[in-house]
Amino acid sequence: MSETGVNDEHEYILGTHGEELRRLGFQHQVWAEQTSRAWSDAGFGPGDRLLDVGCGPGYAAFDLANLVGAAGEVLAIDVSQRFLDHLHAQIRAREISNIRCALTDVERLELPTGSVDGAFARWVLCFTPDPEAVIAGVAHALRPGGCFAVLDYCHYEAFTVAPRSQAIDRVIRATAESFRIRGGNPDIGRELPTLMARCGLEVQEIRPVVRVGRPGTALWRWPESFFANYLPTLVEMQLITDAEASAFQAQWKTHSEEAAAFFLTPPMVQVVGVKR
Ligand SMILES: C[S@@+](CC[C@H](N)C(=O)[O-])C[C@H]1O[C@@H](n2cnc3c(N)ncnc32)[C@H](O)[C@@H]1O
Repeated sequence: MSETGVNDEHEYILGTHGEELRRLGFQHQVWAEQTSRAWSDAGFGPGDRLLDVGCGPGYAAFDLANLVGAAGEVLAIDVSQRFLDHLHAQIRAREISNIRCALTDVERLELPTGSVDGAFARWVLCFTPDPEAVIAGVAHALRPGGCFAVLDYCHYEAFTVAPRSQAIDRVIRATAESFRIRGGNPDIGRELPTLMARCGLEVQEIRPVVRVGRPGTALWRWPESFFANYLPTLVEMQLITDAEASAFQAQWKTHSEEAAAFFLTPPMVQVVGVKR
């Protein structure tokens, strides 16, 4: 346990090492447009006090800090000390004064009632064993009229790669299974409207988020960088063999050189709930 009572073992399944830190930065760039759209739909703007729930190394937090400006503030929270150390270092290096960070388990938020104007969570609720506790904590902290904007997977195994490959399908299934084994839910998007309603948030909007990736694009490199980091974990968890990891890599390389290859990203939803 750390001084704050947060269990150090609770670091998230994808790891907090340097490679994952860089991957999250790249991922943020690739999904920047969809993310800004969620913020705009939630009405985030200058002067707001926003919560970045499960902020990771803080890539979104910096953009949110720009959005709210000097009169606003971003409270960035995560359970990973290593990610928060990175965020602190960046805050100092960039001389940012409107981001505060806190080492917190988002399932145990204890913010004062009505203390934030809005909240954002991207690819966090799919990893938390008790997403309802997270949403309840956020709902409690939101002021009336404030929005919680969530972007998350709603059917991970529908990640579709063409031409079809058993080696790739195998790894996609194993990835979804690994999230479940560690207490997450790779299909959490489906539950979000129900959970939000239960926590007193009125669902304002449910937007599908699916894209097509083709070889040679930045989006094509998104799963590539994910699996480069994650295949060893899947092997360690005995969800795939070394041979299956190698078969995936060989097949991905072949697809990467095929102009006709493409994928549909794992379907996600953007759900915006408003506190009444
Ligand atoms: C895939 S990363 C996403 C980071 C960031 N939201 C983004 O979109 O770039 C998932 C993050 O959720 C954090 N996380 C998972 N479970 C958590 C919990 N119970 N409390 C706080 N943070 C948690 C992890 O530490 C990690 O930083």
